[in-house]
Amino acid sequence: MANSKQSLLDKIASRSARIGVVGLGYVGLPLVVEFARSGFDSLGFEVDAGKAEAINRGESYIPDTSTQLVTELVAAKKLSATTDFTALKDRDIIIICVPTPLRKTKDPDVSFILAASEKIQATLRPGQLIILESTTYPGTTDEVLRPMFDETDLKLDEDYFLAFSPERVDPGNDKFNTRNIPKVVGGVTPASTDVAVAAYSAIVESVHRTSSARVAEACKLLENTFRAVNIGLVNELAQLCHTLGIDTWEVIAAAATKPFGFMPFYPGPGIGGHCIPLDPHYLSWKARMHGFEARFISLAEEVNSRMPEHVVELVTMGLNKHRKPVNGSKILIMGVAYKPEIDDMRESPALAIIEKLQKLGAEVSYHDPYVPEIHLEANDEHIQGIDLSDEVVSNADCVVIVTDHKKIDYGWLTRYAQLLIDTRNATRALVGERVAGKIIRL
Ligand SMILES: NC(=O)c1ccc[n+]([C@@H]2O[C@H](COP(=O)([O-])OP(=O)(O)OC[C@H]3O[C@@H](n4cnc5c(N)ncnc54)[C@H](O)[C@@H]3O)[C@@H](O)[C@H]2O)c1
Repeated sequence: MANSKQSLLDKIASRSARIGVVGLGYVGLPLVVEFARSGFDSLGFEVDAGKAEAINRGESYIPDTSTQLVTELVAAKKLSATTDFTALKDRDIIIICVPTPLRKTKDPDVSFILAASEKIQATLRPGQLIILESTTYPGTTDEVLRPMFDETDLKLDEDYFLAFSPERVDPGNDKFNTRNIPKVVGGVTPASTDVAVAAYSAIVESVHRTSSARVAEACKLLENTFRAVNIGLVNELAQLCHTLGIDTWEVIAAAATKPFGFMPFYPGPGIGGHCIPLDPHYLSWKARMHGFEARFISLAEEVNSRMPEHVVELVTMGLNKHRKPVNGSKILIMGVAYKPEIDDMRESPALAIIEKLQKLGAEVSYHDPYVPEIHLEANDEHIQGIDLSDEVVSNADCVVIVTDHKKIDYGWLTRYAQLLIDTRNATRALVGERVAGKIIRL
């Protein structure tokens, strides 16, 4: 063990360790770039040949990772990508960043992790460190990955090392990135933790060590469950405030003046993205396996998943005040990505809102500066986004702000809209002005 471990630690210290990142998406690409930027020979492994080719041409397809940086690193021969998984054998440190979706039954789907791990298992050799970064239930690294690698003749801590480190990257966040977000790292053994901590310490500002991989896995699920539950709480408050005729946003702003014991969360049209709607299910599934019902998670999901319906009710109510039915009304959706400044449509509540409005007979169009086309699964329809103009806005019977991208001039939008449903408080600066009457806020 001492030799393998010391040899890996030496390679990390001298930046001669060769890095492999499996899965070059929102998580994997920024990560492999960070290793390359820190001087490591870094190779990304992708099943999508288009992505691997883009990297090798020096192009980024993730908004937070600049093409200029990718071009420089590829030219410097620090960064490349491949679809040839036999090259895993040459890597000293391999990090798995593949998707972890849910099955239709809302059970965890770890098939991508298994597929990636089978490739790693096939070429596993002494002196390799494997780290799982995909969000998953506590026990995956110990109970699923370790047995696979132990099936080879290689011994944990003698030949190979194994750890889990949750990814906390927040796409679209210009303050926090891979380098300055503290990294939580837990190995399946202390020796594995040592090597994994050393690897991340070479590229991030701060590393937090946990006593096991399970703690690191559970930590990620706590973080995202915390958000899902708190968003559920304010979404329920928003519906309650609507009934009581109180402005939710003003209530939250007032509460946020308390310098301790309160952290503001904001309501919205529903939760989206690959993490917050999915990750809590990984925890509740594991809980169920042990006869434990995670009630907060179920309740938060119930409240959050009803928000698109609530938005449609606000649209119906607003149109009703204008003596118009939803059926036949022109409705313009502003922003469809699941959050501002990104192009990610995964689990976006905009899709549910559009489908519900279409079902009621509305003529729905959308504008999103980041998303040129969307696909509606219910009727397998592709819709192109439209350009904005004074006419487009004023011709709509109702405009619904679903995602508050910064590029939009909300003063202009409000001026031309007949009726505006604001689910993000994007028009806060305008409240109190003459336009307030035509805005309905969540
Ligand atoms: N997106 C986020 O904001 C975020 C934040 C924190 C954690 N996570 C977690 O990180 C993981 C990855 O998420 P993501 O958003 O980067 O997903 P993604 O879909 O953007 O990227 C995953 C990539 O993996 C590739 N892939 C799939 N199977 C593969 C395989 N067997 N071998 C090689 N490549 C393969 C896909 O082609 C894709 O490019 C998930 O577990 C997610 O929950 C995501």
